[in-house]
Amino acid sequence: SDGNAKTSKSFGDKFPVLVTGFFFFMWYFLNVIFNILNKKVYNYFPFVSVVHLLVGVVYCLISWGFGLPKRAPINKELLALLTPVAFCHALGHVMSNVSFAAVAVSFTHTIKALEPFFNASASQFILGHQIPLSLWLSLAPVVIGVSMASLTELSFNWTGFISAMISNIAFTYRSIYSKKAMTDMDSTNVYAYISIIALLFCIPPAVIIEGPKLMQYGFRDAIAKVGLVKFLSDLFWIGMFYHLYNQLATNTLERVAPLTHAVGNVLKRVFVIGFSIVVFGNRISTQTGIGTAIAIAGVALYSMIKANIEEEKRKAALASSTS
Ligand code: 3PG
Repeated sequence: SDGNAKTSKSFGDKFPVLVTGFFFFMWYFLNVIFNILNKKVYNYFPFVSVVHLLVGVVYCLISWGFGLPKRAPINKELLALLTPVAFCHALGHVMSNVSFAAVAVSFTHTIKALEPFFNASASQFILGHQIPLSLWLSLAPVVIGVSMASLTELSFNWTGFISAMISNIAFTYRSIYSKKAMTDMDSTNVYAYISIIALLFCIPPAVIIEGPKLMQYGFRDAIAKVGLVKFLSDLFWIGMFYHLYNQLATNTLERVAPLTHAVGNVLKRVFVIGFSIVVFGNRISTQTGIGTAIAIAGVALYSMIKANIEEEKRKAALASSTS
């Protein structure tokens, strides 16, 4: 009957913009809290990369156990597609963490605002796509802004800078491989499998590199500083926020074009930079503030030009298919 037809339309079908907006909001919200909580934990326990993924994986296994969502079956082909994505996810994650621990949160996110520049370079030099000159030129303010910000960043050190740069490269590869791995599987299941594989990649180096330090003093010092209960609940919450913001980011990617997603990611950094400066009372120099603003404006410019180019392409394709 007519009534049935009405109720079978989901809320998301009826109000797509509202639902997509809600996804963006939740992604940003969870990410801001994650970044602040995470930096507080670093200050007394810097061994968190595996914890983030582990909590997420346990959460996924429990959710699957309840059928929320129902686990999508995986086969060899799918595993082969997701493994490189998960490897880059793991590497970018660990490198981001090294950077977060080494410098101010705001500075790591300023460097990570270069990610679209790395994406453009990869399209041109690795995938062989021709990137128009206007697009390259629009990236100049991004590079200049980040350089200006870096030169006078009070928390600057090379470990923080280089690890954030490596995370840019790793996440660029992640986006290249993700495109190849676009499958029929829903995004929540895809991210669950990526988390599991990424965790497997992280465990061996963590045990070898950090295992001895953890056993000697890592756990002991952390518990002495904040107490066992706070220590465990902090680890639980940074893991949950990490997992949920990434899951929301993946769910958002399912709803919007990759470019919109990339722009949304830069806007997310604007919020994180702002909130982290306020919460941690970080001092930033005037030049760093201006450099960060120029870089972010550059990303906005780049995105607009890129969107225009895509629109022209779409129109041209449409015209040639109808003629
Ligand atoms: C991580 O720990 O993986 C970083 O938080 C990644 O940061 P991003 O999702 O903001 O790039």
